[in-house]
Amino acid sequence: MKPSSLLLALTLLLTSGTVAASAALAKKNNCIGCHHMTDKKVGPTWKAIAEKNKGTPDAEKMLAEVIVKGGKDKYGKVPMPPQAKAKADAAKIAKWILTL
Ligand code: HEC
Repeated sequence: MKPSSLLLALTLLLTSGTVAASAALAKKNNCIGCHHMTDKKVGPTWKAIAEKNKGTPDAEKMLAEVIVKGGKDKYGKVPMPPQAKAKADAAKIAKWILTL
């Protein structure tokens, strides 16, 4: 294997590891009762959230704040309830969403 392809393989491995870890955080914090990757449930899909917020300045910080404090009126009539217990993981989850 060429060194460059080895590097690529390593990068892919590391990135997929992070994605899996963050999906696990979303599961651990019970976000998945309302959010799914591609099926709209009570809340918008992870993909829809990514699309809406990509390119917004400070999107990561803003999303982390919405996760902890809740949000409303951006996707429909149902508000997002505050998830204070997810505080420690909010930044990681927000970062993950923006990579989708
Ligand atoms: C009871 C259902 C419910 C749960 C549980 C829930 N959400 Fe939400 N979430 C919503 C709804 C509904 C919205 C849309 C709010 C709106 O229209 O602004 C939303 C919006 C969001 C947004 C988009 C914010 C924005 O301003 O673009 C993010 C990010 C998010 N949720 C993350 C999470 C995470 C992470 C968790 C778990 C820690 C979680 N949600 C748990 C219902 C839920």
